[in-house]
Amino acid sequence: MSMAVKNNIRWVGKIDWELRKFHGDEYSTHKGSSYNSYLIKEEKVALIDTVWGPFAKEYVENLKKEIDLDQIDYVIACHSENDHSGALPELMRHIPDVPIYCTKNGAKILKGLYHRDWNFQLVKTGDKLSLGTKELIFVEAPMLHWPDSMFTYLTGDEVLFSNDAFGQHLASEFMFNDRVDQAELYQECIKYYANILTPFSPMVIRKIKEVLSFNLPLDMICTSHGIIWRDNPAQIIEKYLEWADNYQENQISILYDTMWDSTRVMAEEIAAGIRETDDQVTVKLHNLAKTDKNDVITEVFKSKAILLGSSTINNGILVSVAALLEEMKGLKFKNKKAGAFGSYGWSGEAVKLLLAKLADAGFEAMDEGLRVIWAPDEEGARSCREYGKTFVGSL
Ligand code: FEO
Repeated sequence: MSMAVKNNIRWVGKIDWELRKFHGDEYSTHKGSSYNSYLIKEEKVALIDTVWGPFAKEYVENLKKEIDLDQIDYVIACHSENDHSGALPELMRHIPDVPIYCTKNGAKILKGLYHRDWNFQLVKTGDKLSLGTKELIFVEAPMLHWPDSMFTYLTGDEVLFSNDAFGQHLASEFMFNDRVDQAELYQECIKYYANILTPFSPMVIRKIKEVLSFNLPLDMICTSHGIIWRDNPAQIIEKYLEWADNYQENQISILYDTMWDSTRVMAEEIAAGIRETDDQVTVKLHNLAKTDKNDVITEVFKSKAILLGSSTINNGILVSVAALLEEMKGLKFKNKKAGAFGSYGWSGEAVKLLLAKLADAGFEAMDEGLRVIWAPDEEGARSCREYGKTFVGSL
C-alpha cells in the first residue's frame, strides 16, 4: 500500500491498526498508530525514514512495488529510534552502499542498535542535498525528542518532514488532517505532547522559533506518526508553542487510589468543596488503578493543579500512585499546584509522603494535606469539603 502525498512524494509507510502499547508498556495507543515513510522521486530519489522492525519485510516488499530499490539514491534517517529505523537492516541488505543521511548522533545510535557500518553521511543544520530542481535542507532538532532527531525540508514542494514532532498515534486511512475527526486528532496530539515532549518544552520553543526564522514557505508537515498536516499546517506549530509555554487549562484533577473506598469518598467530598467555591473550574476525578496512565498524564498536563490521594499501606503509598509520581517527576511539569489526601487506619504516613514526593516532582505542594482515619464520618466529610475550598482558594 502506498498513497500520494504531493507531486512526486508518496507515503510508503505502515499503518499499525492493532498497536495498543508503544515503547514497551510506556504509551497506550488506543487508536493504533502509523510509521510514516516517504519516497521522493525527483531526478534523484530519496527515501525518508522507514518503519518498525516487525514490518520490515512487508515494508521492503511494498517499496519494491513502488521503485526498483537500486534506483534509491539517498536514505534519510531523521530519527534513529526503532519505530523509524527498524526496517533499515532489511532495506540495506538490498542496497548496502546507498548513503544514509543523518546527524552525528543518528549515526552513533544506528551503529549502537544495528552494529552495521553503513555509508553514513553526517549532516548539520543548513546542509543541503540536491534532488535535481528541488533540494532537501536538514535542520538538527536535538532532544525533540532524542539527541539525534532532525527535520528535513523539501524545497519546491515546501514540505517539512518533521519525524516525531507534530505527530500523534492515530491509525487512519484518511492520511490528511482535514479528513479525520478533529476532536480525536486534537486529543491524540495533546496526549502525544503531554506524554513525550513535556520535559523538552524549552527546546520546543527555541527550535520552533529557529525554524520560523528561516522564513521557509510551508505547505505541508509530514510527520512520522499519524496524519499529515496539509490544511493550515501552522495550526499544530501554534499549538506546540502554546503547549510548550507552561500550558494549563482551568482544570483541577483529583487523582487517587483507594483500598476500601474511604479515599474515594474523600476525593468526591473534596471535589464538592471545590465546586461550592468555584463553579467555573473543571474538576475531574480519576481512580489511578482503573484509568490508563497516559490519559491521566494528559489530564495532569491540562490541569492548573492536582490533588493526589492514597490510602496508607505498609507505612507507604499505593503502588499506582507511586508509579504516577515517578512518571510525573520525569516529565518535569512546571507551574502546577498540588495537594494531598488519604485515609488511614493506624500509622497514616501516606499524605506526608505524597506532599514530599509532589514537591520533589516539581509541583508547588501545599504545606498541609488531609488525613481521615478509617472511613470519613460527617465530620470527616466536612473536613474534606473544607480542604477542597481551601485548596481552590489558594490557587
Ligand atoms: Fe517515533 Fe521517537 O520515535
